[in-house]
Amino acid sequence: MRRTVSKRKVVLAYSGGLDTSVAVKWLTLERDYEVVALSIDVGQGGDLDDVRERALKAGAVAAEVVDARDEFAENFVVPTIMAHGLYEGKYPLVSSLSRPLIARHLVDAAARYGADAVAHGCTGKGNDQVRFEVAVRTLAPQLDVEAPVREWGFTRDDTIDYAAQHGVEIRATRAKPYSIDQNLWGRAIECGEMEDPWAAPPSDVYEMTLPTATEAREIVLGFEAGRPSTLDGSKLPTVELVDQLNRLVGSYGVGRIDMVENRRVGIKSREVYESPAAAVLMTAHAQLEDLTLERDLAHYKSLVAQRWADLVYDGLWYSPLREALDAFILYSQRFVTGEVRIGLERGSMTVTGRRSEVSLYDFELATYDSRDSFRHSDAEGFVRLFGLGTQTWAKRQLGR
Ligand code: ARG
Repeated sequence: MRRTVSKRKVVLAYSGGLDTSVAVKWLTLERDYEVVALSIDVGQGGDLDDVRERALKAGAVAAEVVDARDEFAENFVVPTIMAHGLYEGKYPLVSSLSRPLIARHLVDAAARYGADAVAHGCTGKGNDQVRFEVAVRTLAPQLDVEAPVREWGFTRDDTIDYAAQHGVEIRATRAKPYSIDQNLWGRAIECGEMEDPWAAPPSDVYEMTLPTATEAREIVLGFEAGRPSTLDGSKLPTVELVDQLNRLVGSYGVGRIDMVENRRVGIKSREVYESPAAAVLMTAHAQLEDLTLERDLAHYKSLVAQRWADLVYDGLWYSPLREALDAFILYSQRFVTGEVRIGLERGSMTVTGRRSEVSLYDFELATYDSRDSFRHSDAEGFVRLFGLGTQTWAKRQLGR
């Protein structure tokens, strides 16, 4: 009697793109796996039913789509706004945020399907492999991690050839060589002409920030305890709000970032991003903090923000330091409630006002008119003592 040995099973994070489509076939043929394709909706757009169909056509034994948009918005985007998480002061962590979420869904699916391994389609040169693998090993150390794209060593043309040889249907062409990653929080575009940091990005790389708006306008964003809650006075669920802001602010051509960034793996790379909602929400949130955070807290929080962004960028979402910093950040947001006014015109965004019921801006302390309540006589002694140390130094050691 023939004995059937059950095959090893792997859950692959499947985007429907060239690499992960070929990975379905490759893991099946070259590594003898049964492949379960898992596609996570983090707001990247496109037809995910179609993505699911293509996974099955490529040879997956099962294919699933999980709508994780709310989870992404609430558990990843909102904390980023509260933290003011900008890697190297510029990048709003778009891809860095989706990886830990996708990793957790891979682990959940692996348990449901009784899989031995999970797989991702990242190369060996980027940050995303770090984020997936560090997350999976923290959440489920018993699972193997497969990284076919890192292993097979194909050029892009080799990958296209492998697809053709094995009948894997793909959409990629040899002409548009960009690597794109997109979610609710923005869009990352790499490769092609942009590999020369001096070369301007070709205009066809942009999608979210095409300046089509013709009239200047003003918007009002409301926050409650640090979380964005209203647009022009109407309450919106976070996914809705971010989505609307992407369209609205994007239509003014606002939200482009062109930078050279330090990857975790030691490579400097030229990166182009589009993140209109992130641009306006982070700017407005920071302005509301200017009004409502006490000085020492504000200054200390900006140090925390930088460390937080580094951790998240480096793939350490599931780490005790990130959790502890988030506890600090959440506590710091108790009084970050109010509204910010932003003017939009083609190519620019300007904050023109802010207000809060719990504002620390005290008119009577700040004013120069007759309503002034500041005790001017306190200033003289304060200033004298404040400068006493440097005054003594200059006198004794510099002979002044
Ligand atoms: N450089 C960015 C990051 O490390 C974007 C990565 C985008 N990924 C991609 N496959 N295009 O977060």
